[in-house]
Amino acid sequence: MIRSLLIRFVLLPLAALLPSFAHAQQIITIKFSHVVAPNTPKGQAAEKFKHLVESRSGGKIKVQVYPNSQLFKDLDEIQALQLNSVQIIAPSLSKFGPLGTRAFEVFDLPFLFPDKASLYRVLDGDIGKRLFAQLESKGIRGLAYWDNGYKQMHARKPLRKVEDLRGLKLRIQSSKLLEAQMRAVGANPQVLAFSEVYHALQTGAVDGGENTLSNIYTQKMHEVQPHLTLSNHGYIGYGVIANKKFWEGLPADARTLLDKAMQEATAFERDMAQKDNNEALEQIRASKKTSVYELSEIERKSWQQVMIPVWKQFESGIGKDLLLAIQRVVSTK
Ligand code: LMR
Repeated sequence: MIRSLLIRFVLLPLAALLPSFAHAQQIITIKFSHVVAPNTPKGQAAEKFKHLVESRSGGKIKVQVYPNSQLFKDLDEIQALQLNSVQIIAPSLSKFGPLGTRAFEVFDLPFLFPDKASLYRVLDGDIGKRLFAQLESKGIRGLAYWDNGYKQMHARKPLRKVEDLRGLKLRIQSSKLLEAQMRAVGANPQVLAFSEVYHALQTGAVDGGENTLSNIYTQKMHEVQPHLTLSNHGYIGYGVIANKKFWEGLPADARTLLDKAMQEATAFERDMAQKDNNEALEQIRASKKTSVYELSEIERKSWQQVMIPVWKQFESGIGKDLLLAIQRVVSTK
């Protein structure tokens, strides 16, 4: 009697609480590859995700994080994801071009997002969901949007007026829109994988580039670039994406656990992004290896005047409706 009561009211309900993957013999392993340093917002959030998943699953789900392009470089990682050689990656939204989903180019438009709040409204609302839905037919599941921050311009010479960019060889991420942006200012854009940037700057193969403060600092770019201009002219954010077939093949309760951990890692990542960029600026200034210049309002306007015409050039590829919808969300508080 007592035994059957124990089974009915204690053991069975407890068993129901245990996730089904917890009974499986096999451990689920997720490889998560990225190109930046472990002490960046993306690097720290990948570790946070790993920690949450492994502790909550009692070690039944393992997340192996590969930072610094250790496993795959920029150009290979999307293909590796589609082949399920890696299960999660978090490329910059500027690198979604090879998937043939041109709508993502919108995040490269210079001076589109005046602040992070408007950007999050876009990413976390219907537009962000619609963009991720476009990846499904490519075998990819969008999990979250992570943040880095606004891009700053760095070079071997001071950049104040927009004309100062003319004729410089500037490294860009692999994006047609960024190529057009650099051509608009009269510069000569050079696509390089992130892992190759420091060396190219050090040897003078390129004269400069654009990146976020945390990327500049953690890659030590400021040590080989004497000038940095706080231009905030564009944005770097990430799509955290998974192999769709792998994701759908997971037990439902494992997916619930992973989704929840991803949500928490995302909140953490966005906080870190703000904090890390602020700290990176302080460290860069303190290093005295590069001089930091802030654009005046007049200079900023002249940069905008030269760069914003790129919007028109890319409007039809991105989709006029999408661009208008984003502009509406950006301007509604
Ligand atoms: C870059 O290539 O400069 C960035 O996309 C790197 C990153 O992932 O932040």
